[in-house]
Amino acid sequence: MSKFAVFGHPVAHSLSPRIHLAFGRQLGIGLQYEAIDAPPELFFEALEAFAAAGGAGANITLPLKESAFGLSATTTERARRAGAVNTLARLDGQWHGDNTDGAGLVRDLTGRHQLDLRGRRTLLIGAGGAARGVAPSLLDAGIADLFLVNRTPQRADALADALGEPARVHPRHIGDLRELGEFDLVVNATSAGRGGELPQLPRSLLGMRSVAVDLSYGEAAIPFMAWARAHGAYRAIDGLGMLVEQAAESFALWHGERPQTDEVYAELDARHA
Ligand code: ATR
Repeated sequence: MSKFAVFGHPVAHSLSPRIHLAFGRQLGIGLQYEAIDAPPELFFEALEAFAAAGGAGANITLPLKESAFGLSATTTERARRAGAVNTLARLDGQWHGDNTDGAGLVRDLTGRHQLDLRGRRTLLIGAGGAARGVAPSLLDAGIADLFLVNRTPQRADALADALGEPARVHPRHIGDLRELGEFDLVVNATSAGRGGELPQLPRSLLGMRSVAVDLSYGEAAIPFMAWARAHGAYRAIDGLGMLVEQAAESFALWHGERPQTDEVYAELDARHA
């Protein structure tokens, strides 16, 4: 039976094993899938040991996505644009890196949530790995202007430079949010909900048709989702659907067949409600 795993630190609460095993059952594909906790300094060794034991593919989560990019023998264009890898496939004794996060987000928003992203005036809050992973896909999905803000402004500038679309991508100072007006789409890509305080967000960002999206799910998404609902967002969407969709993309890459995602999503959503 082929072996897969998710690497992260911490990783014990990862939903990926449950999702991939459910996909396998659905399509009649037998697979093993475990969660492997690897602190950054031991990641390389852990991945080598996994390969030696017959590991065929791996998902990579926080804080290892940039390291996974660095140790991939080849990378897809979308992984290079993100500078991060969330999916590794073992081929000819080497790791090949891809990034399915952005595609997963767009698929969740346009498919499950039936949103038309084209022409949307968008604000992306955060400029770390998560923001880098999704920004290119949002641009490709046809959003209009993309405003970038981050607690550390230099990182928003660097992300804007890397995206290379100065006519559409505008880094701004997080202290100037009040002057930016209303957005159709507000995406929280900070890790603030995982422990820190949500940055101060003025209610002027949201109008009656605004959609607010948090890339995290569960407890980490609660502060931003609560902010969005309290200030009248039309929709508040957490990252659970993105998680399931990026997993489906990875699954398709490894197994050549794309699973249906609705059932797994509904099951996890009910559990987290
Ligand atoms: P991830 O892979 O989750 O994006 P990361 O690369 O460490 O993790 O990036 C975390 C992001 O959340 C960054 O944009 C970070 O802002 P800085 O670049 O200024 O560090 C942002 N972030 C984390 N905690 C925050 C907080 N309490 N308020 C505002 N932004 C925060």
